[in-house]
Amino acid sequence: MSFDSIAPVYDSLSRMVYGKSIVAAQNHFLKYIPEGSHILIVGGGTGWIIDAIFEVNRTCSIVYLEASQKMLQKAQARVDADDQPRVKFLFQSEMPSEGSYDVIITNFFLDLFPPHKLVSILHQLKDRMKHDGRWIVTDFVDGGKLWQRLLLQLMYWFFKRISKIEATTLPPWSLLLAEDGMQKVEEKHFYVGFIETAIYQK
Ligand SMILES: C[S@@+](CC[C@H](N)C(=O)[O-])C[C@H]1O[C@@H](n2cnc3c(N)ncnc32)[C@H](O)[C@@H]1O
Repeated sequence: MSFDSIAPVYDSLSRMVYGKSIVAAQNHFLKYIPEGSHILIVGGGTGWIIDAIFEVNRTCSIVYLEASQKMLQKAQARVDADDQPRVKFLFQSEMPSEGSYDVIITNFFLDLFPPHKLVSILHQLKDRMKHDGRWIVTDFVDGGKLWQRLLLQLMYWFFKRISKIEATTLPPWSLLLAEDGMQKVEEKHFYVGFIETAIYQK
């Protein structure tokens, strides 16, 4: 899987299709991040979320995990020199095997994996959460409407060809999180219910 080729246009493309919803959903719960939090972002993309976090919270530190070199370079380039010490950029596709985080953020990341692989990823990330940590997940939901199904088919067709993603359909990420014992604390929907952002705790 590689998002290198799509990295230059990823944000424009996603905003063209989903408008302000794609950003609004990801911003929605950032205000709940406690001061001084140690945050793990997995599959953060071009890194605009780092600016958004620092805008509402100047005291947190971030570990930013990206499997695409091009996405990572974009993210690194946008962080001011003053803020650089507070962000650790890691070019890797393995889930971290150590570290303990107050907040984990996975936005439009869980949808890349087939269920059997996602189960293992969810479990590994859960292990990285502090006991009272929070996990912010933003992703698509299949509400069963025809337009949602068609849009999902189109997106999976596109990203399968361009980025060679492993999933062929939207995995039941919400169900798999629940099966792993994660509690959904709050949720909000965007784009007529097609995008969900939620906070989970252990
Ligand atoms: C669909 S994009 C979403 C980007 C960003 N979260 C957003 O919403 O704009 C998924 C991102 O996850 C990254 N990714 C895929 N597999 C990964 C892995 N195993 N570890 C870290 N990043 C990964 C991709 O390179 C890509 O940048």
